[in-house]
Amino acid sequence: MINPRLLALLKQDALLFNSPVHGISHWETVQRNGLYLAQFTGADVQVVSYFAYFHDCMRENEYDDPEHGARGSLYAKQHKHLLDLTAEQLAMLCRACSGHTFGRKSACATVATCWDADRLDIGRVGIVPNSKYLFSDEAKRIADEDDFKILRGVCR
Ligand SMILES: [Fe+2]
Repeated sequence: MINPRLLALLKQDALLFNSPVHGISHWETVQRNGLYLAQFTGADVQVVSYFAYFHDCMRENEYDDPEHGARGSLYAKQHKHLLDLTAEQLAMLCRACSGHTFGRKSACATVATCWDADRLDIGRVGIVPNSKYLFSDEAKRIADEDDFKILRGVCR
């Protein structure tokens, strides 16, 4: 769904583009998770997809970088001409990116789905996702029932 021009730009600008923890492989997994969850939550799939590619793209290190979400949001705004989004969708994307590290609740199904999609991939660093930090019923179910294979397209 992401266009080649945007992907090339991210490759050029994201310091951790090739990182297995916060780079392109994580972004692709977040997109996959988000598109799966959107079937249940009704989230805006375009916003979910762009969130996957922007939320960690401005990280400066793998560890303590609390402002990276806000920088990702700013980066998305700076390149809005490359995004196929309305002003309202762009605002949602920016809220999702800015807030994704702080764990506040969001009343917006799209923002909450973005955060769940990211958190369901926390297993990559050896942490088991906990349903208490997830928002949607399907994300909570996946964590509670240890059903992560459903996200990989494996049937139950
Ligand atoms: Fe992430």
